[in-house]
Amino acid sequence: MKVIGTGSALPSLTVSNDDLATFLDTSDAWISTRTGIKTRHLLSNETLYDLAVEAANKAISASGLTPDQIDFLLVSNVANEHITPGLSCIIQKRIGVTCPGLDINVACAGFVNALMLADDMMKAGRAKYVLIVCAEEPSKYCNWQERDTSILFGDGAGAVVLGPGNAFKNVHLTMISDRDVLYYERHMEKTPFEQKQVEGQPLMMKGKDLFRTAVSESAKDVQKVLEEEKVSASDVDYYLLHQANKRIIEGIRSILGQPEEKFPTNIEKYGNTSSASIPILLDEMLAENKIKKGDKIVMSAFGAGFVSAACLWEWE
Ligand code: UT7
Repeated sequence: MKVIGTGSALPSLTVSNDDLATFLDTSDAWISTRTGIKTRHLLSNETLYDLAVEAANKAISASGLTPDQIDFLLVSNVANEHITPGLSCIIQKRIGVTCPGLDINVACAGFVNALMLADDMMKAGRAKYVLIVCAEEPSKYCNWQERDTSILFGDGAGAVVLGPGNAFKNVHLTMISDRDVLYYERHMEKTPFEQKQVEGQPLMMKGKDLFRTAVSESAKDVQKVLEEEKVSASDVDYYLLHQANKRIIEGIRSILGQPEEKFPTNIEKYGNTSSASIPILLDEMLAENKIKKGDKIVMSAFGAGFVSAACLWEWE
């Protein structure tokens, strides 16, 4: 499997830390120092579906394929306005693909998990070309009265088209059941029978616990995938890590003992766009011709669950 096209899309509205400080007890200094975030793009007059379609169309166009050549559509999303049907069904018609698809929810690690599924589908002969779309609107499930989570997130979508090749080398997935570290409970309808009613509540997070687990588990995932492929950390050209917090990236970097220039970031501009963060970063790096044939690339992400995942590519 190899990447043959990428695309990304961001909402038109840019919101700065100073903008947030007009209604939250926070400051640009606190947010920049603790997270690295300066601005984020938030949905205002467009929908998540628009972003998903734009990113997907750009990726298909970059791949040189026509939409009808896509054999499978994998969509990664944590939550959107529709509980059913899935986001893959909603966008299928607008991007002109005719193939089946499915939605996955592996929180911010959705992209790396989707890559594993795409690779397995190709190896099984089930698909030649797979389109992955990661589309996220975390701004819609944060509590905007609270400063602890709302400052972290941004909305966005990233997409990749995958085709035959030998670039995808290996993947390692981790799941540690720990709901309380990060969760969003949705409202469910009242039944005449149930004793306990869940009313739903916005995103809840134990930031410090999540921070610690993210650094240690992500570093372990990366080390595991490198070990299995007999590749040393210094052989890797770029580490494309989930853009959740610059200090988390720094923590992983210091465990791996690798120089800063191998860890590109765009969290400054976009905040944490959940599972879309790595495909958006990848799309930007390819657009800037930063990735060359033969480069060894690690991707690694973590999120609610607790889940984490890492994979290794040798770019073709
Ligand atoms: O995709 C996964 C999603 N989530 C994450 O990856 C989040 C992982 N965790 C983190 O990134 C960090 O834990 C945070 C950025 C969320 C918080 O940073 P921290 O260094 O762990 O800060 P803290 O929660 O310990 O808070 C330190 C202080 C507290 O005040 P006191 O108790 O020291 O007086 C907070 O009340 O900073 C205060 N604080 C804020 N101040 C200004 C918390 N949020 C804010 C804020 N603005 N937005």
